[in-house]
Amino acid sequence: MLAIILIGGKGSRLRPFTCDRPKPLLPLVNRPFLEYQFDLLKAHGIRDVVLCTSYMPAPFKRLLGDGRRLGLRIRYAHERRPLGTGGAVKNCERLIDGPFLVFNGDILSSLDLTGFLRSHRRDRADASIALTRVKDPTLYGLVETDPGGRVRNFVEKPSWDEIRTNTINAGAYIFEPGVLGLIPEGTAHSLERGLFPRLLELRRRLFGYVASGYWMDIGTVEKYLQVHLDIMSGACRPAAGKAAPARKPLGQSGLACGRGVRLGREITWPLDGGQAVLGEGVAVGDFAKFTGHVCVGPRCVIGRGAQLEDCVVLKGTRIGPGATLRRCLVGEGCRIGANASIAAGGAVAGGSVVGPYSVL
Ligand code: GTP
Repeated sequence: MLAIILIGGKGSRLRPFTCDRPKPLLPLVNRPFLEYQFDLLKAHGIRDVVLCTSYMPAPFKRLLGDGRRLGLRIRYAHERRPLGTGGAVKNCERLIDGPFLVFNGDILSSLDLTGFLRSHRRDRADASIALTRVKDPTLYGLVETDPGGRVRNFVEKPSWDEIRTNTINAGAYIFEPGVLGLIPEGTAHSLERGLFPRLLELRRRLFGYVASGYWMDIGTVEKYLQVHLDIMSGACRPAAGKAAPARKPLGQSGLACGRGVRLGREITWPLDGGQAVLGEGVAVGDFAKFTGHVCVGPRCVIGRGAQLEDCVVLKGTRIGPGATLRRCLVGEGCRIGANASIAAGGAVAGGSVVGPYSVL
C-alpha cells in the first residue's frame, strides 16, 4: 500500500524552530521526527512512500534520498506553490494505483494502521478518517459519526452546548482512488474543508475510525516539548524499538547516553522515573543537575553546576556554568551565558547568544 505524507507546510506556529528547518525534520529525542512515522508504517508492512513537499524541499532529499537506507521506497511530489492538503494529494495522482493512506507529517501516534485498513475495507468506504478522543472538544474541529461509524457532521470549535462527541480528525486517512476526481487540479484545496464536506454532500461513504493510544501533533512549541517529555516518560511508546531511548538505570534515575559522552563529577541525575537523554559527544560539567525529563542534542556542552529541568536542548549548544533551564526549548548552536536563566515557555532560536545573568 502507498502512504502519502504531507510535509509541505511552513510550520509557522512552531517558529523559531521551523525558520531554518522544515517541521517534519526537527529532531525528536535526537532523531528526525519523520523517522517515527516511517517506523509506524514499517511496523504495518508499508514501505512505499510519497513525500509531498513545498516549503524547504531540499533537506528532505538530502537526508532521506530514495529511502533505501531506511528500508523504504521514497518518491517525491513537489509543489512550486503550496497546494494545501487536498491539492498536495491531487498532485501525486499519477503515482496512485489503488487505495492509499495519507498522513499529516507532524503527527506522532500509535495508530493501528492494520486495524484502520481493515475497518476501511469492512465499511466499503470511499474515504476513512482516523479519529482521536480529546479532553477539551471546544478547542478543535469535531467529527460526528453515527453508531455504525459513518461520518455525519463536522463541527468547527463548538461551544459546550453544541458538543455531542469528543472525537477529532487525527490527521490520517485512507482513500479509494475514485475520490481524486473530486479534487480540482493545479489549485489550492483542503481535504478538511473541501473534500470531506463534499463527500458528505454527495452522500459518499465517509467513515471514522476511532484510534486508541497516543496521539499528539508537534504543531506548536509547547506540543513539540510535550512530545519529547512523553517519549522520555514512556507516556508515548513509538512503533520501533530504536525510537525509544534505551533506559540505563543509574541508581533510581534514568540516563541514556550516546557515544563519546563525557561526564564530570557529582552530577545529579533525574529521580522518580525521570530521564536524561544525552546525544553523541555531549560533555557535562561537574555538579550539573538534571530534573524530570531532559533531552540534550549531540555535541552540546553543559557547564559546571548548570540546572536543567523538563527541557530540550538541540545540537551543538553550550549552556554556561550555573545557567538554569526550566520547561523550555533551546535551538541548535546557541550560546547560553553563565548563570543565565530561561523560564517555562522559553523558545530560544538556533544560533542565539544569551548573555551571562540574562533572565528570559
Ligand atoms: P502552521 O503554519 O503552523 O499551521 O503549520 P503547517 O504549515 O504545517 O500547517 P498544518 O499544521 O495545518 O498542516 C498539517 C500537515 O499538512 C503538515 O504536515 C503540513 O506539512 C502539511 N501541509 C499543510 N499545507 C500543505 C501544503 O500546501 N502542501 C503540502 N505538501 N503539505 C501541506
